[in-house]
Amino acid sequence: MDPVQDQYETFPYPPRDPKDEDQRLVVGSPSGRDEISHFLFGGARDWSKPFKVLIAGGGTGDGLIMLAQQLANVNCPAEITYVDLSKAAREIAEARAERRGLTSITFKTGSLLDAGEDGPFDYIDCCGVLHHLPDPAAGFHALSKALSPDGGMGAMVYGALGRTGVYDAQEMLRGLKKPCDSTAQRVETAQRLLASLPVSNRLKRNPFVKDHLASEAGLYDVLLHARDHAYRVPEIYEALDEAGLGMVSFVAPANYDPDFLISDAKLKARLTRLTGPEREAFAELLTGNIKKHMFYCAPKDAAGPGRSAQFSMEMIPVLYNVDMDPIMKMLEAGKPLTAHREGLEVKHPLPPGSAEVLALCDGKRTFDEIRESLTPSPPRDAFEKSARQLYRIFFGLNLMLLKARA
Ligand SMILES: C[S@@+](CC[C@H](N)C(=O)[O-])C[C@H]1O[C@@H](n2cnc3c(N)ncnc32)[C@H](O)[C@@H]1O
Repeated sequence: MDPVQDQYETFPYPPRDPKDEDQRLVVGSPSGRDEISHFLFGGARDWSKPFKVLIAGGGTGDGLIMLAQQLANVNCPAEITYVDLSKAAREIAEARAERRGLTSITFKTGSLLDAGEDGPFDYIDCCGVLHHLPDPAAGFHALSKALSPDGGMGAMVYGALGRTGVYDAQEMLRGLKKPCDSTAQRVETAQRLLASLPVSNRLKRNPFVKDHLASEAGLYDVLLHARDHAYRVPEIYEALDEAGLGMVSFVAPANYDPDFLISDAKLKARLTRLTGPEREAFAELLTGNIKKHMFYCAPKDAAGPGRSAQFSMEMIPVLYNVDMDPIMKMLEAGKPLTAHREGLEVKHPLPPGSAEVLALCDGKRTFDEIRESLTPSPPRDAFEKSARQLYRIFFGLNLMLLKARA
């Protein structure tokens, strides 16, 4: 058996109990319904129309269940195909879907390399999978071929810099492995190595990699993985290009935008000479803490930032997977919005009046309708300028998306 398949038969990922579906829906990126509409359909995807989806390497079903439930909530006539090499992962995903009464899903055990057979798809989710393939380029290519010409894909691959130290430990553990070791012995050896790492070790000095400390499955996934390859920004662009795909956008683009990360005016001026992808690569080097790259891409002819929703006063702002209470408290205390990511703290001063605008964001009103709801209602030009600035920051942090009025 392929060692990656073997690993996910033993440790279906992520560990999930189908009973928990009664309590909560796991949400995240990529592949939220509103995110797909924003990034790939200009914020205007009509969910009353059929939507054909592939969940490639769906694991125990986080992305699958989120999207299937969100599409069911709006009665979308969706057809979802789940495929994964691991039967054990599929059984958990199936049980989760059954628990929720989700009937739009066809489950398959197999490789995403054969995804074309059931295509073309309007949307493909491939989260945390391509970097485990023996030939990731073949995976990008197979998924590209399975997309419809106006379809798109949400993907996640590991980030090399944020995972500093992981590959050192993986290499040491390969050296320590005996051919006859059981899974339990490999886990024990890894735990012993972790306990023996000196302070100077690069994994020890990278406290932001923590999944290996949470569970045995996490430890296996991070330190004993049969195969994983982490990416830098330029490599992602190359992989997409070779597969006939183009970038639409990274998720949380503020993490890839030096303007949000650098205040030195002379450096900023120099940075304007760089292309978009060069600036993203610069930001990745600057912070050094991106562990996962999440992005939306599409067939080359249908890619580019223009594919996504664009700010206008006629668009509806949608607050996205965010608990607004702490943010409102920060703003009411006159503090800037402070974003934390893997040890990095970035302060984003918001335009005056932002708290009032955010309080009126109900996912139904357009920016212009929000302006009209304010008393006194501010002049359109001035409001548009500050709403655009507010949106740029909130969207940059993946806290706000745009939706067109149906
Ligand atoms: C880290 S898990 C990610 C699961 C899920 N996408 C998520 O984000 O929660 C990787 C999954 O990819 C599956 N996988 C790896 N190679 C695959 C392939 N060639 N075709 C289909 N599934 C594959 C594994 O079996 C495993 O379930």
